[in-house]
Amino acid sequence: MQIGILGSRLMGGKLGTIWARAGHEVVFSYSRGKEKLNKLARDARGKARAGTPSEAAKDADVLLLAVHWSRIDDVLKQAGDLSGKVIVSCSLPMNADDTDLVIAHTSSGAEELAKKVPKARVVSAFGTVPSEVLFDVFESRRKATRPSLVYCGDDPKSKKVAAELIRNVGFDPVDGGPLRIARYTEPFTLLIAQLAYEGKGGPRLAYRFERFGE
Ligand SMILES: NC(=O)c1ccc[n+]([C@@H]2O[C@H](COP(=O)([O-])OP(=O)(O)OC[C@H]3O[C@@H](n4cnc5c(N)ncnc54)[C@H](OP(=O)(O)O)[C@@H]3O)[C@@H](O)[C@H]2O)c1
Repeated sequence: MQIGILGSRLMGGKLGTIWARAGHEVVFSYSRGKEKLNKLARDARGKARAGTPSEAAKDADVLLLAVHWSRIDDVLKQAGDLSGKVIVSCSLPMNADDTDLVIAHTSSGAEELAKKVPKARVVSAFGTVPSEVLFDVFESRRKATRPSLVYCGDDPKSKKVAAELIRNVGFDPVDGGPLRIARYTEPFTLLIAQLAYEGKGGPRLAYRFERFGE
């Protein structure tokens, strides 16, 4: 597949690198440093290049949206017409200092995103994992037991694409249901982040995330 990465930092940088190594054609975009995108593309050691958001979107079979919530409108504007595109979003509706969700309970970031791009097909995925685990999960992908990753969306074809990308990273995809399920996965993510960043003395879940690659 051709995959456009909108937002190439912790999540976009790592997932794009993994998908390039898994054989996909990847375009990294949206950074304040063009050289950073070029370096990501070089280091990916696969079919990868740097581009603008509109170049990333143009021929993409699927787009990964991985920007801070405050940048969503800007990156969508730069990407241009996304009619018919599959958008896999890991972006969480966080406030400016990342201490709380700005949308929750009766809606979700994923649903609000779908309203912003009504002609695109949005799948919510990867938001539930800390970026730190991604390379370890990829390295361990041939092991018998794989960690699960929940995704949700309203369009069956797009969900198939997302499930394949989830498998490529090394997770076992778990269909969580329609997009509104993101109302529950997004707050859950804050719990996971809290546990993951508590460090070695933290609860068992954080311990398991950190030790996954060992
Ligand atoms: N990090 C995690 O572990 C994690 C886990 C789950 C979900 N998420 C969610 O995933 C999303 C992405 O998080 P992230 O930590 O990967 O990255 P991020 O800090 O949100 O940055 C994403 C990208 O936006 C770019 N950017 C920011 N301001 C810009 C501007 N004015 N012009 C152009 N580009 C700009 C950054 O470019 P620069 O290269 O210039 O910084 C970067 O490539 C967020 O919504 C987050 O809540 C993150």
